[in-house]
Amino acid sequence: MRPSRTVPDLVNVVYHGIVSARFLKYLEDRKPMPKLTVAGKTAEWSADKRLVNAIEDMGIHIGHRCGGQARCTTCRVVFISGEPDTMTAAEYQKLSERGLLGQYRLSCQILCTHDMEVEPVMTLENQENWSDTGPRPADTVEPAAEWFPKSTFGAS
Ligand code: FES
Repeated sequence: MRPSRTVPDLVNVVYHGIVSARFLKYLEDRKPMPKLTVAGKTAEWSADKRLVNAIEDMGIHIGHRCGGQARCTTCRVVFISGEPDTMTAAEYQKLSERGLLGQYRLSCQILCTHDMEVEPVMTLENQENWSDTGPRPADTVEPAAEWFPKSTFGAS
């Protein structure tokens, strides 16, 4: 018959569980943050940062005229490297509707999950009729996002 666990056994299990969880957290904290390069500037951002806000927070006046709702396409970027192979349904729908699929990505629909280099297309400096770039997008992707492999949409 197998002996039942004693209190010291259970304390030992709990102790090792706590130590393991702390060690995993330590390893997680040591992971390098994703790097974003825009117009010759590079900065690190947490993986849940919206690309459009990261670009703006690097001092680049990228458009976001709809406030990050995947409606205006003024947050469009060209990827030099690190283009995500996923996209939201809202991004796919808007880029398709405007005939922009395959040329640009919408930075309001992308998170800084890995190293990327992008070029913003529409900025306060190159749009003559803008007095501002638009309302700041929320911290989380809107509309409520679910990412799909680009191949889901037949996009490459
Ligand atoms: S589509 Fe309007 S801010 Fe991205």
